[in-house]
Amino acid sequence: MKLSVIGCGYLGAVHAAAMAELGHDVIGIDVDQSRIDALSAGKAPFFEPGLPDILASATASGRLRFSTRMEDAAGSRVHFIAVGTPQKRGSYAADLTSVNGALDALIPFLNAGDLVVGKSTVPVGTATNLAAAVAASGTGASLAWNPEFLREGFAVKDTISPDRLVYGLPPAEAEAVSAKALLDAVYRSALDAGTPLIVTDYATSELVKASANAFLATKISFINAMAEIAEATGADVTQLADAIGLDPRIGRRFLGAGVGFGGGCLPKDIRAFTARAEELGRGESVAFLKEVDAINLRRRQRVVDLTVESLGGSVNGKKVAVLGLAFKPFSDDIRDSPALDVAVQLRGLGATVVATDPHAIENSRRIHPQLEYAVEPADALANADAVVLVTEWDQFRHMDPVWAGNLVRDRIVIDGRNCLDAPAWRAAGWTYRGLGKP
Ligand code: UGA
Repeated sequence: MKLSVIGCGYLGAVHAAAMAELGHDVIGIDVDQSRIDALSAGKAPFFEPGLPDILASATASGRLRFSTRMEDAAGSRVHFIAVGTPQKRGSYAADLTSVNGALDALIPFLNAGDLVVGKSTVPVGTATNLAAAVAASGTGASLAWNPEFLREGFAVKDTISPDRLVYGLPPAEAEAVSAKALLDAVYRSALDAGTPLIVTDYATSELVKASANAFLATKISFINAMAEIAEATGADVTQLADAIGLDPRIGRRFLGAGVGFGGGCLPKDIRAFTARAEELGRGESVAFLKEVDAINLRRRQRVVDLTVESLGGSVNGKKVAVLGLAFKPFSDDIRDSPALDVAVQLRGLGATVVATDPHAIENSRRIHPQLEYAVEPADALANADAVVLVTEWDQFRHMDPVWAGNLVRDRIVIDGRNCLDAPAWRAAGWTYRGLGKP
């Protein structure tokens, strides 16, 4: 099928490449010329495992092209809207400027029978408004909502073999039938592989996405709240998570206590959900998400406080090696990254922060040039008074504590992801502090 993908960020670029990999003929459109130039040359503009391979093969085959001109979307049968919905300045609500702008720009190029498919994460009610704009355009196109559940770091796999597909279809039956047929054709391979499909209305599809991320954020903050209690009682939150996680109704995944969640999705999505619920007069239904957010932000402060405490009450003039900048491993994304936040806060308290990360240094340096960066972990560790691990990249998890101990000035380690082998670090002479651990 001929498809267009409007917006080529983390979501759109992967979606465009993955759809081409599945055999569709795809045009990716974005307003950022340098991004389009990189993608056209088959280069991924950000770090995402597996993306360079499918980009290179799909651009070389001619099935995948990129452009800054919306008119190049004309002739595609299905148009995915995959632009960002960041947090509005000075508010918790989502900023829909790009979504509305993308649709307005696309409408002149729509043909009768085309389907516009929203993939961006939006407040419930948005699809109905956008569908009204499509209907009013008189183009004969219609709109469906098809939320995306990909995780950064696993985005290619999650797009090609998703764990579920959700279609939010138009209320009019004839339109719904043809929208479903088009979406089925797009996702033929996933459907043939038995991917579960939920066919529903606009509001449910939008809420599936908001509530999935709210649930994940709540699960992480739940275990981080337990970490706070563990800190007050001498209990060990990792053992606690192992024990409760063995109950299949609870499950161990997303019970990793530590410095908390960040990224371009969970933090802004729970805030946007709260803001939308308040608009709907149902603020109290999701008021707990404010607590989820507060617990999450307190964990960043806890890592900073532990570092200060471990250094005798002040980090001023001390060298702190920060291991990790990305919001999670296998990503170079630093949006709302707890790791970068901790580094910046320690710098603000007068520490000389030398941070290292396998992929996120360039992005971090652009926004925080005041920090020092070291490509080699050994350079970050050299003569450090304390080491703070905040992104659990494999190279940090498996770092040899004896080797690291010979580089630093003082063997103090704060494990902000509870991912180090504490007994091994202690045996190598380190003062080890985890989160929610004795
Ligand atoms: C999240 C969701 O997991 C995806 O399903 C969703 O599609 C995506 O948002 C989105 O809305 O686009 P992502 O932001 O890539 O995906 O990252 P996650 O893997 O969910 O991790 C989020 C944060 O939680 C990271 O900072 C991670 O370090 C943290 N985390 C995760 C924990 O602190 N503890 C855990 O046990 C798990």
